[in-house]
Amino acid sequence: MPTALITGATAGIGAAFARHLAAEAYSLVLVARDEQRLAKTADQLKLRYGVSVEVLPADLSTEDGLTRVESRLRDGVDLLVNNAGFGNAGSFPDVPVANELRMLKVHCEAVLRLTLAVLPGMRERDRGAIVNVSSAGAFFPSASTYSASKAWVVNFSESAASTLSRSRIRVMALCPGFVRTEFHQRASMDSSAIPWFLWLKADDVVRAAMRDLALGKRVSVPDVRYKVLLAIGRLVPRSIQNMVAARIAH
Ligand SMILES: NC(=O)c1ccc[n+]([C@@H]2O[C@H](COP(=O)([O-])OP(=O)(O)OC[C@H]3O[C@@H](n4cnc5c(N)ncnc54)[C@H](OP(=O)(O)O)[C@@H]3O)[C@@H](O)[C@H]2O)c1
Repeated sequence: MPTALITGATAGIGAAFARHLAAEAYSLVLVARDEQRLAKTADQLKLRYGVSVEVLPADLSTEDGLTRVESRLRDGVDLLVNNAGFGNAGSFPDVPVANELRMLKVHCEAVLRLTLAVLPGMRERDRGAIVNVSSAGAFFPSASTYSASKAWVVNFSESAASTLSRSRIRVMALCPGFVRTEFHQRASMDSSAIPWFLWLKADDVVRAAMRDLALGKRVSVPDVRYKVLLAIGRLVPRSIQNMVAARIAH
């Protein structure tokens, strides 16, 4: 049985990965901070899919949490899903620096360190896959540092995939648009202005991601709506993109 470790596995996109992979008979290692919720998620998955589920409570914004997940990854897994993430309430430069650094730790440092921890085992076996959850926002400037942190994830994933291109290890950045999860509420964001047709379902995002991973894509943009939006976005000059970001910020 292959094993997958998923960070942020108790809600939203991470929970959808857990359901999808359990249905594919993966053994799971679930990472998140809330221990009770982890245990409940694990029980539900075991009951429904009959797979083995380990829980690993860890806060990826702390040294202790990162070290414990690194240590589990060194024991070997077949698939790592770096999914845990969040948005800070407020815009740059009003967000306290401690919150900005926490985001960089979870979105960038954790992704780097967990990748480095899992890779030696994958290289030894010459197989494995890493999915790093970024965002469609990674391709545009914005009023917060969120998109900058997610741009790092795309560049890092593509660079790692290139470096490993002679191996059978796949690295892919997943770049979804707006997904109905707990994300916006947790970040105290008012999402009421986002039109209904831009919302995606977490299960659809994960299905598309796993299909793209099997196809060997290095960047996955689920759903045709966002493929079109990103293609149009690429045609808009950067100066105009910056103007739009400035308008949104003020
Ligand atoms: N929703 C969207 O519209 C959207 C769009 C593009 C990209 N994304 C990205 O998708 C990923 C998943 O987001 P989501 O929308 O599914 O969010 P979500 O519903 O809020 O779920 C976040 C998950 O991450 C865990 N988590 C948060 N901080 C953590 C930390 N410091 N250490 C360990 N686990 C932590 C949470 O559990 P605990 O609170 O128990 O730790 C929870 O399981 C994120 O990287 C996000 O940036 C989301």
